[in-house]
Formats: sequence, structure tokens, C-alpha cells
Amino acid sequence: MATINSNYNKLKAGYLFPEIARRTKEFQEKNPGVEIMRLGIGNTTEPLAPHVIEGLHRGVDKLAKVETYTGYGDEQGNTSLRKAIAEAYKSRLNVTLEPTEIFISDGAKCDSANIQTIFGTNNIVAVQDPAYPVYVDTNIIAGREIVYMPCNEKNYFFPEIPSVKVDLIYLCSPNNPTGAVPTRQELYEFVKYAKQNKAVIIFDAAYSEYISNPSLPKSIYEIDGAKECAIEVNSFSKSAGFTGVRLGFTIVPYALVAEDTTAGRVNQMWNRRQTTFFNGASNIVQEGGLSAMDATGYVQNMDTVRYYMENARIIRHGLMDKFVVYGGKDAPFLWVKTPNGMDSWKFFDKMLEEAHVVITPGSGFGPSGEGFFRVSAFGHRSNVEKAVVSIQKNLRV
Ligand SMILES: Cc1ncc(COP(=O)(O)O)c(C=O)c1O
Repeated sequence: MATINSNYNKLKAGYLFPEIARRTKEFQEKNPGVEIMRLGIGNTTEPLAPHVIEGLHRGVDKLAKVETYTGYGDEQGNTSLRKAIAEAYKSRLNVTLEPTEIFISDGAKCDSANIQTIFGTNNIVAVQDPAYPVYVDTNIIAGREIVYMPCNEKNYFFPEIPSVKVDLIYLCSPNNPTGAVPTRQELYEFVKYAKQNKAVIIFDAAYSEYISNPSLPKSIYEIDGAKECAIEVNSFSKSAGFTGVRLGFTIVPYALVAEDTTAGRVNQMWNRRQTTFFNGASNIVQEGGLSAMDATGYVQNMDTVRYYMENARIIRHGLMDKFVVYGGKDAPFLWVKTPNGMDSWKFFDKMLEEAHVVITPGSGFGPSGEGFFRVSAFGHRSNVEKAVVSIQKNLRV
């Protein structure tokens, strides 16, 4: 008799975005004619860079000729792309990586969800609260105990190191949803803790290209000793607009050790996991990824990143009169306090009804998100401007 994984019963009902979609649809049906403006989901909206489009075309054209056709590739990704990523880490961040420490995937969501499968189910997991829901949900499904690390106004939305012993630590920088970026010193404290406790940090750097302050680290490997205790997950989604194209990568350094392993073993296990469960990212997409990594692609992609960051500035400026606003300086998200301590979902409804703007309730990202809402800077400029004007004119706070 088959039984189910009953840990699924422990998940909070209704994932955040379906619930936002349900409420928005209900409002639209009751108010046909009303234009709804979206500052909610962190989905990219601007076209791909021309150089990246060329790369994708090249990928397609290669499939048209017998001399250049490829079928299954390496599950770990094309060597040329792994090398290009290693070179970019070296030239942009002065971080030295072996290409074989880099595993190409079809996105950071899968990697940040799957990485826990190579660790013991009795590991205690620490997560930033609030955080991208994937970290908590995948560990609940695996049956692990979760320790929340509150991120609030008092600690500038970056947590203190855990006061209890934990084994896996998820850090996301810039953080989704708060937009907070730890300093080198703050990250160093976590690296020190991880090394002392033989814990492993899973560092999600999906938004790292939005960091413009040069004193802030973009990769955890900019911190001394991090290769011994940290795995980094990254994505082409927000840096190159690949949210629909799908490409990401995970770095598992050879130096990384866990309580019961020597150096090299965790890298080998992730290799085993990927070669068993995954058949490699699309060859067309990897060709596009190569173009995104080269100098021309990078310059063009950074123009788009700056476009979104100008949206962030406009939103920040527009909301400052009415709200206490955090984030949005080195991240495409703004983290905003609800007025008069209003609960996040109540405020979501109020914003929709009065300003016709969709935002994301903070409580959907964890208990400490209650009393906040997230505003996304991804969107066309004209829509962002319209939404800000509507909030200024129509929201009664
Ligand atoms: C923190 C964080 N990590 C990862 C992802 C997913 O990235 P990908 O599109 O590469 O799966 C997201 C997407 O919104 C995210 O917010």
C-alpha cells in the first residue's frame, strides 16, 4: 500500500502568489473596467539584450547543421559556460573557482529547492525570516526542523548569528523580500559561525547584480574561508532577463566540508545528484548564457538592471511621504511598513481597492514579514509611474 509523504500536510495552505492572483481576479470581476497596476510578483518585463538574442539564435542555428548539432550535453553544463562563469567571478569579484565547482541548471529555484537533498534529514535549518518561501517549504517537505532568524528594523533586516546550534543556514543577498544586503563583516560572522559549527551556508545570490554599492559583497566567496562552508546558488533570471528562458548555476567548492565529510565529497554528491535527477540545461539557452557572460552581454544586461533600479528609485521616492520604506537601493525590492500596524493581507486588500495596485503582503514571506509589504521594481516604466501616482492620489492613509 502506497503512503504519501505526510510532511506535505505541514505546509501552509495556499502558496502566496496563487492567493494574490485569486484576490486580484475577484476584485477585477467585481470591478470590470478598473485598470489594475501590478507591483507584486518579481517577474522581469523588459526584452533580452540584443547580444544575448544573438547568442540564442546561434544556439538554434547550431541545431540546423549536422556538423554543429548536439543532443544531450553534460548534466553539469557546457564546459565553455562553466569556464565563462569562473572567469567572470575572477575578473569581476576576484574570486577563484574551478569550472568543475560550477553546476549549470535550469534555474536557482530548482537548485535552492534541491540542494537540501544531499544533507541529512536530521539537520536543523536556519532561515532568514522573512525569506523566499522555497527554503522553508522544501525543508518542511524533507521533515527538517526550522529555526527562524528574524530580520527586522532593529537589525536592519539582517539577522544575528543563530543563538542555538544549526546545521544548514540559508542566506539570500540581496534578500527577497526585504532588499537587505549584508556587509562583509556581517557575512564574515556567519562564515565564522559555520566553520566553528561545521554548518553549511546556502547563499542565494540571484539578485547580486543589483548591488551597486562597491563596498557590499556580491558573492559569499569574497569572504575569507567561505569556500570551506558555503554553497552559492545563482541565476540568469534577474541579471539577464531569463525568468522564462531558464538558466542558473550552483557553486559547490571542493574545499567545502560537512560534519561527516572531507573536502571534495559534497561537490561529488551534488554531481551525483544532478547526473541522476537532471539531464542538463537546454543547449540553446546555454549558448544565450555564454553571450550573457561575455563583456558585451554584461554591459547590455547591466543597462536593463539599471532600468529596473530607476524604477526602484521612482517607487521609493513616491512612497516615502506616506510610508516607512526600506530596501530598493541595492535590490529590486522595496520593503515597506504598513500604516498604523495594519496586517499585511488587510493592507493588500486596501491597496487593491483604493489605488488598484497589487503589492505582495509581507506575511507571505514568514512571520516577521507581518506588518510589511513588498513592492517589486520589475515592470515597464509607464506602469510603475502610473501605480505610484495612483498610490499618492487615491490611497487613504
Ligand atoms: C531569492 C530567489 N532565488 C531564486 C529565485 C528563482 O530563480 P530562477 O528563476 O533562476 O529559478 C527567485 C525568484 O524569484 C528568488 O527570488
